[in-house]
Amino acid sequence: MPLVNVHLPAVDGEIPDDVSRFLRDADRRIDEYQIRCRAPAFVPSNYEGAYRVLQGLADSPLMRGTLFCEWGSGYGVVACLASIVGFESAGIEAEGELVYAARQLAEEYELPVEFAHGSFVPPGNEDRVVAAGEYAWMTTDSDYAYDELGMEPNDFDLIYAYPWPDEEAVTAKLFERNAGPGALLLTFHGSTEFRLRRKTKKSKK
Ligand SMILES: C[S@@+](CC[C@H](N)C(=O)[O-])C[C@H]1O[C@@H](n2cnc3c(N)ncnc32)[C@H](O)[C@@H]1O
Repeated sequence: MPLVNVHLPAVDGEIPDDVSRFLRDADRRIDEYQIRCRAPAFVPSNYEGAYRVLQGLADSPLMRGTLFCEWGSGYGVVACLASIVGFESAGIEAEGELVYAARQLAEEYELPVEFAHGSFVPPGNEDRVVAAGEYAWMTTDSDYAYDELGMEPNDFDLIYAYPWPDEEAVTAKLFERNAGPGALLLTFHGSTEFRLRRKTKKSKK
C-alpha cells in the first residue's frame, strides 16, 4: 500500500500571542468575506488545531523536507500558519476572490507565502477525477497552478487539504499518484480530527 497512516506528533501548550492575534484577525476577515461574497465551496478548517499539528511537524524527523502546499487554500490561513512555523509555503485555490484575499492576508503579515489561482488536480489527472465520480465542489479545470508556483506536485514534502466528505478518497488518490516518495498528506475531517499519511514508495501511474 503506497499510503500508510502516521501518528500525529503531540503538541500541547499555549498558542503564542502573535499567532492568536493572527487567527482572530483571520476569523474576522473570513466572517466579513462570507457575508460579502458567495463561495459555498469554502469552509474554514480548525485553525488552532492545524497550527498545533504543523508546529509538531516542523523540525520533526517525520518530515522529508520543508516544502508545504495547501490544496484548496481558501482564505490561505493554513498556508500562512505553515509559513509561521517555518515551512516554505504555497497554496492553490480555484476561487479567484479567495486567492486575492489570501495574498492580502499573507502580505499584511509579511509572510512569504505564494498563492496560485487554479486547480490542485495535477495535469493529466482530470479524467481520473471525473471518472471517479461526481463531487460536491472539486473543480478539475485550470491546471496551470503548479507552473505558476514553479513547482511539480512531487516537489512538496507536506500537502494539506480539507476535502469535502465525498472528496476524501479522490484527494488521497491524487496524492498517492502524484506526490513524491516520503511526502506526507495531512487532512482535516471536521471538529478536531486530523489525519496524517505518508506515501511510502513510487506508485504506478
Ligand atoms: C473546504 S474548503 C477548505 C479551505 C482551506 N483549506 C481551509 O482549510 O480553510 C475547500 C477549498 O478548496 C477549493 N477547491 C476545490 N477544488 C479545488 C481544486 N481542484 N483546486 C483548487 N481549489 C479547489 C474550494 O474553492 C475551497 O476554497
